[in-house]
Formats: sequence, structure tokens, C-alpha cells
Amino acid sequence: MSLEIVLFEWPDIAPVEHNFFGAIMGKKVIGVLTGGGDCPGLNPAIKAVVKKAIESGYDVMGIREGWLGLVDDRVSPVALDRDVVRHIDRQGGTILGTSRTNPFKTADGVRAVEKRIDALGLSAIVAIGGEDTLGVAAKLYDQLKAPVVGIPKTIDRDLSFTDYSLGFESALQIITDSVDVLRSTAESHARIFVVEVMGRHAGHLALRGGISAGASVILIPECPFSIHRVCELLRERKNRGVRYSIVMVAEGAMPKGADLSLMSKEVDAFGHVRLGGIGQFLADAIEEKAKLESRAVVLSHLQRGGRPVAYDRRMGFYFGIAAVEAIIGGHFGKMAALKNGRIVLAPIKEATKELRLVDINTSYDAERYRAKQSIIGVLGPVEEPLFRSA
Ligand code: F6P
Repeated sequence: MSLEIVLFEWPDIAPVEHNFFGAIMGKKVIGVLTGGGDCPGLNPAIKAVVKKAIESGYDVMGIREGWLGLVDDRVSPVALDRDVVRHIDRQGGTILGTSRTNPFKTADGVRAVEKRIDALGLSAIVAIGGEDTLGVAAKLYDQLKAPVVGIPKTIDRDLSFTDYSLGFESALQIITDSVDVLRSTAESHARIFVVEVMGRHAGHLALRGGISAGASVILIPECPFSIHRVCELLRERKNRGVRYSIVMVAEGAMPKGADLSLMSKEVDAFGHVRLGGIGQFLADAIEEKAKLESRAVVLSHLQRGGRPVAYDRRMGFYFGIAAVEAIIGGHFGKMAALKNGRIVLAPIKEATKELRLVDINTSYDAERYRAKQSIIGVLGPVEEPLFRSA
């Protein structure tokens, strides 16, 4: 499927092209872009990059619409200064726009990126994204030695080499709030509610969301489930006199022996199919096999919407600063990461090579489809950075 590219100007940020003042004055210019699915936390990271970069003597150019902004010269960049970014840390989404453009799958895409980096006079690029956007950054660094650094974002939280990626906690809050809202109607009608959340390959969102929201059954992509067992667990609760139950299922979870539940067979530029439908499938199966009235709710893009929670604002701040520190230190091909409570730099190539999945052995009870109930010394890496003493 090829979609029309809609070119438009942002109302309150002036487009810049060859007259960008930094390049003309011989100042070094950092380009910043956001790619892939949006999420709360991107704008706080952009703000931190801009403020730290300006303080360090750089100018900053916003590259619009992800990698498309470096592939297509009709997508003009914007000048970012302190005034433009002052209020954006409270806003969800990304002021730069985003796309799933893959220069490696676009005719002459890589050559176009190379030319455009040169034409815009960029001395470094901060790419804020997940597996796909950062995968492009890793390849550009490998093949062209492009001066890229990364910032991890994905509500799926499935990037390796980092304990956190922007958007995750905000998505968890929405999941938790949504289930809180569902509880009254679930209880009134004594129904099962199957809540489908995002997570293509990794069940972090479903598992942590399930814990936060108090779901009785949690189904994740890492552990194919038995429908018979799900029904058994729900009937068990019913027999104990519990009026209703919440089942949380990741969009990529699968019944044993079945195929992924696909909404569409079409793939995007990174080869991903659109998932969705497992929630309804499961609700139907529960009604039929367990004889319990069930409804499915797909939280879908609500999970990526809204304002960033406090944690995503702070992590955006930390990661943004770290990305500019990496540029100053000449650490290209690296991304800011959170590891064991410290902000560190990790090689983007390694971080995007393998997805970080839920460790079923330590964190998931594959018998009762819930979080493991033994926790000391196991669960929950510290997700808040520790500051090094000066
Ligand atoms: O990659 C993050 C993600 O949130 C996945 O969990 C989900 O399948 C996908 O994005 C949906 O993205 P979109 O519909 O915006 O292309």
C-alpha cells in the first residue's frame, strides 16, 4: 500500500532551508527527528536535546516526518530554539511529525539521505525511535559513518540494551485507567472483559499493564496460551463467587498451535503486518467454551495518545541530555540507554539486533497466566537513573 505524502507547513514553527543561520555562521548544527509510532515522551526528549545543544554552542534543526525528512527534500526542516520548545514537554505525540519511511527500502533513499545531510550542513543527527527507526540509524552509521546518535522510544519496551524506552509508562497509565473505568460495567453485568493492548512480539506492556490494572489473566506473545486453560481459570474465579474478570491480552499473543491474529495482510516499509483481533477472538471463545458472557475492548492507539506521565518527562529529559553529551564526545552509532539505574551509551546496532522479550522463567507464571509470584531479587530493574556523584 503506498500512501500519499501530505506536505504541509507547521503553523507556528518557521521552515528553514539553505538559509539556516547556524550553517551560514559556521556554527555546528544538530538535526533531530522522531520516527515510527509516536508516543508521549518524544516532545520532552526533543526539548532536552534543543536546550542542551544550544547551551553547548550548537544550533538545532527539526527534521520533520522521521527519515522521510532526510529522503525527500520537499519536507523542509524547522529551526528549533528555546522559545519553540518551551512548552512542548507537556504535550503528547511529536511536534516534528513521524513516519515509517525506511530509506533502505526507498529508491535511492540512502543516497538521498547522504546528500541531504550534506546540503543541510548537519554535523550530527539525533534519531528518536524504536527498533525500525534506530535500525536505520545503525545501518547509516555502519555504511556511511553517518554521525547519528539514538534515543530509545517504544511503548512495546522491546529494545535491547536499555531498561527503558520512552512512552512505556504513559501507555501503562492509560491501560490502568481504562481498566479502572471498565470495572463498574464489568461488575454490573457480571461479564468478562478481554482488554487487548499493544505489543507485537513482547508482552511487557500486557504484563506490567496487567499487574498495574489487576487483571486476572495475562496473555503475552512469548507464551502461546491454551484457550481451555484460560476458560478453566475464569470458571475457577466464577465458582469462587467473583462476579467479573479482566483478561489482558497482547495484540501479538497467540493460542497454542495458531497463527498471529492479523487485521490486515499488508506490510509496512519495515515488513510489519498490522496486528489486532485476538481480543475479540478470545472473548468469543470464552463465551462459547466457558459459557461466560464476554466483551472485548481494544485499547489500540489510545495507548499512544495523551500527555506524558511524569516518568516519561524525566526520562525524555535524561535521554535528551545524554544524546547531546554523546555528540559532544563523538560517540556516534550509540544510543542513550538506561542500564541498572544508570544512563549509559549503548551501540545502536546491538540494541536493535535482538528484541528484548519478557523472560518467562523469571517473570511469568505459564500455568496461571499471570506475573510470577516470587519476586525477591528478580523482578523490576531500577528504572530511575542514579546520578553519579560529581
Ligand atoms: O511499535 C509500536 C506499536 O505500538 C506496536 O505495538 C503496534 O503494533 C504498532 O505500533 C501500531 O502502529 P501503527 O498503527 O501506528 O502503525
